[in-house]
Amino acid sequence: MADHEKLINQWQSERTPTEDVILKRRSVRMYKKEQIPEFMVKRILEAGRFAPSAGNCQPWKFIVLRDPEVIQELTDATVKICKLFKSLIDYRVPGKKWRLPLAKFNIRMKPNDLHPVPFGAVTFIADGKLGLFHGAPTVILIFKDVRGVSNPDLDCGIAGQNMVLAAHSMGLGTCWVGFAKLAFQYTGKWKKRFGISYPYKYAASLAVGWPVGEPDGMTPRQTHAVDWYENGAKKVVY
Ligand SMILES: Cc1cc2nc3c(=O)[nH]c(=O)nc-3n(C[C@H](O)[C@H](O)[C@H](O)COP(=O)(O)O)c2cc1C
Repeated sequence: MADHEKLINQWQSERTPTEDVILKRRSVRMYKKEQIPEFMVKRILEAGRFAPSAGNCQPWKFIVLRDPEVIQELTDATVKICKLFKSLIDYRVPGKKWRLPLAKFNIRMKPNDLHPVPFGAVTFIADGKLGLFHGAPTVILIFKDVRGVSNPDLDCGIAGQNMVLAAHSMGLGTCWVGFAKLAFQYTGKWKKRFGISYPYKYAASLAVGWPVGEPDGMTPRQTHAVDWYENGAKKVVY
């Protein structure tokens, strides 16, 4: 039997270890205090470094934070900005309907940042109901090189997901964290502190640590219809 035929037989009846990691990964929002070993972080970074990127331009810079005080300071700075946003544009608070026009204007200017999900989450973060890095002992900040070929955000996303999957394959937990952007976008302090200037811009960050409990498991996803063209015909598969 040819090698590829053996593989077809095998994977018809079982999932690959990589598929298992992809399907079982969940965002982890509760971590043990215990730090993860340095070698694990280096292996995670290596997985990011080996990500594909347009023109192999590797438009990223990773910064690792392992000091709880620094992670807390960055958290506090972000919470402060969330509180400011809340006080300016959260029109859902009783008696604050007058904020609606300002909220609408901002939503129009930044439709992705102020989509209903982050709009709601900003309030939760401001009120301390949603953590930023969820108590993770290690945080990886991902900065994009804006000069990257084509779409550096996409490349950073691919590198980040490589890191996430590598971490989960080692039994670690991770959570993507978008909101730390606020500290880098609306203050100069954090860019200065980490020596971030052109061509780098905050892309996203990852909380990494030992998960509390066993959060892994399938999480529901929409079944998007896929248009499938073959043998001169189109079919729709799910
Ligand atoms: C780019 C990006 C940014 C995210 N930002 C946050 C965040 O700031 N805080 C958070 O708790 N989860 C964040 N998430 C996690 C998503 O909420 C989560 O991936 C989604 O709800 C699906 O759940 P799952 O990861 O458990 O499958 C982010 C995810 C991505 C991909």
